[in-house]
Amino acid sequence: MSNRENFTSTFGIIAAAAGSAVGLGNIWRFPYVAGQNGGGAFLIIYILIVLILGVPLLMSEMMIGRRAQANVIGSFKKLGPKSSIIIGIIGLLAAFLILAFYSTVGGWTIHYIYASINGEVFHTDYQNYFFNFKDNSFLPLLWQIVFLVLTAVIILGGVKKGIEKCSKIMIPTLVLMLIILVIRAVTLPGAGSGVNFFMKPDFSKVTGTTFLAAMGQAFFSLSIGMGAMLTYGSYIQKNENLNFISTSTAITDIMVAILGGLVIFPTLFSFNAAPDQGPGLIFVTLPAIFEQMPWGAGFSTIFFVLLLIASISSSISLLEVIVAVLKEELRWSRTLSTILTTISVIILGVFATLSWNTFQNIFLTTASGNKMYIFDIFDYLSSNILLPLGGLLIMIYVGWYLKKDIFYEELSSGVHKKFTLALRPIIFFIVKYISPIVILLIFLNGIGVF
Ligand code: PFF
Repeated sequence: MSNRENFTSTFGIIAAAAGSAVGLGNIWRFPYVAGQNGGGAFLIIYILIVLILGVPLLMSEMMIGRRAQANVIGSFKKLGPKSSIIIGIIGLLAAFLILAFYSTVGGWTIHYIYASINGEVFHTDYQNYFFNFKDNSFLPLLWQIVFLVLTAVIILGGVKKGIEKCSKIMIPTLVLMLIILVIRAVTLPGAGSGVNFFMKPDFSKVTGTTFLAAMGQAFFSLSIGMGAMLTYGSYIQKNENLNFISTSTAITDIMVAILGGLVIFPTLFSFNAAPDQGPGLIFVTLPAIFEQMPWGAGFSTIFFVLLLIASISSSISLLEVIVAVLKEELRWSRTLSTILTTISVIILGVFATLSWNTFQNIFLTTASGNKMYIFDIFDYLSSNILLPLGGLLIMIYVGWYLKKDIFYEELSSGVHKKFTLALRPIIFFIVKYISPIVILLIFLNGIGVF
């Protein structure tokens, strides 16, 4: 393991970490979860959780990986104790589950590129178009497999140059595209009420579930709680500044989520569509806005291509979690590890993609009477249960087992500002005491224990 690959520059690391963080979670998941949870109040809770819990967790994960120079299982094996390997196992499980439903949506994105190019997505009933496509048995599966194969090809080709290079160009371009879309969205007639819904907090809608949803969203969006950032951390060199890397990643992530919301909500309100319609939200609303723009088909194609690339720079970080384990722990080649992982994910992914078709009879009914299909169950289980649980255990691990000296040392490398060094005790206090308590409270409250 001595000749492990490393990222080559600070910007490259931030681009890769932000590439993992920024993805479907920001543009597809964030607006619809915010829409289901009251809009503005959700936004505030989400930002607070990202800054207070997310950034210290991001640092903690990266420092474990960098310290151990190993994958999500190998790191805990190396740093001990033996029982901590359970954190790695939770991470692996989450990586599989997320990939399974993430690739469903990645597949939808590819279909929308195709449908934007040939124009079939325009001049239609957007909602029906989406439902007809999603509930079809063949096309979504085909696109899902294409998505996973694309992800696998990048991982096969060596992550370093692929991810680093691709993220460096794509993330800024995505932000630019989003800004153009925001301008169009907020100038639509009636857009103001959408901006209000998104920006004006209505705390009367806030319940225990809102906090759990915001925490799940924050963890999902930052790719934390399951070892993706730990794995990337293991490719970060000793002299890099983890404070800067994790803060920049989190800020980019928040920024893109806000831009995403500023595109979706004004558009929705302008077209009188409901903000709480769930996973289909952007696939129903965005074509509507593109149709209103000059060169709409072109914009639509570019947007979905960028969304695809943003999602692939996230899915590679998920696949890499599993591949790194197989490669380093079982000493399989990168090729064998990648192929076998991809096949397993495709098998699991079929269940998510056919949730509304072949497997529509499998669902759970929530307390509020909504049906949760396999797709939703994978999402809920990973985002709202496994990631917070993984995050909780990682914080406890770093705060109570790795201890202060290692924590301080890891947060000192590459730091030249006294102010940053002075923050270390505060961050450590958050990791050791505040985060575990807050995560536990939100979690128990959210699942209705009290
Ligand atoms: N953060 C990604 C997104 O927001 O789309 C999703 C994700 C990637 C979650 C990697 C977890 C992960 F390990």
